[in-house]
Amino acid sequence: MVPAVGLLLGLLGLLVVAACVNRDAPADVDALTICASCHGPTGVSERYYVPNIAGQHYAYLVKQLRHFRTTHEAGDMRENATMNWHAVRMNGADIDRIARYYAGQTCQPGIHTWTGGELNNACTACHGSRGLSRDPAIPNLAGQQVYYMLRQIMAFRHDENAAANRNSHCSRSNERMGKAAADVCGDALLSAYYFNAQGCP
Ligand code: HEC
Ligand code: HEC
Repeated sequence: MVPAVGLLLGLLGLLVVAACVNRDAPADVDALTICASCHGPTGVSERYYVPNIAGQHYAYLVKQLRHFRTTHEAGDMRENATMNWHAVRMNGADIDRIARYYAGQTCQPGIHTWTGGELNNACTACHGSRGLSRDPAIPNLAGQQVYYMLRQIMAFRHDENAAANRNSHCSRSNERMGKAAADVCGDALLSAYYFNAQGCP
């Protein structure tokens, strides 16, 4: 009887340990399932405020997930309550694996159509004439959600504007894009629609 109880307690103990270890361990499938609930199973989002990440540059995705982890602590940073929460729960290996997965998916054109011919401005100079950039540190914008893009531009401007905005939970810093966002005038809106309408090869 006593050995049986001991065995049972031992097994229970193992289960508790296993549950605790599981919660801390990076869980491949679970992590991706959580991401998919917002970003879609292949990184094509159906929500206007959630970015598409399918086919995005691997280096850019890694950089963003790191920015979300560090927020204001170092260099470039990015503040968003949801993504800050997720990113601090990911280790370097999770970030690498998940970024590889989404970079390998195929991006989709957005919902808008564009009949104005090819756009040629400061935005396309960096992000590519059709929203596919050659520099892996500059994100592809082809097919990206319009609202999301405009919100990011506001976030870059927020950061430009000072510490007073730091509790807005919507700020982002980057030297190159910060400068571009500070001087957008009409180009940002126009370009967001243009990029959304572009397809992916
Ligand atoms: C509850 C919804 C939600 C979940 C779950 C979620 N995200 Fe996000 N994600 C967002 C939103 C909203 C943004 C835009 C944040 C902003 O405005 O800065 C975002 C931004 C991102 C970006 C930046 C994309 C870009 O173009 O710069 C990456 C990368 C990303 N998420 C990856 C992930 C990964 C990986 C997971 C799973 C571990 C995940 N997300 C889970 C909502 C979510
Ligand atoms: C000098 C190069 C440069 C120019 C010009 C530029 N960008 Fe960017 N842009 C970047 C870089 C670099 C990033 C990524 C910043 C980071 O790592 O956080 C970025 C990020 C973005 C993002 C966020 C994308 C995402 O997935 O989160 C949007 C939207 C954007 N740019 C739109 C524009 C628009 C619209 C214009 C024109 C008004 C423009 N950019 C001009 C370099 C540039």
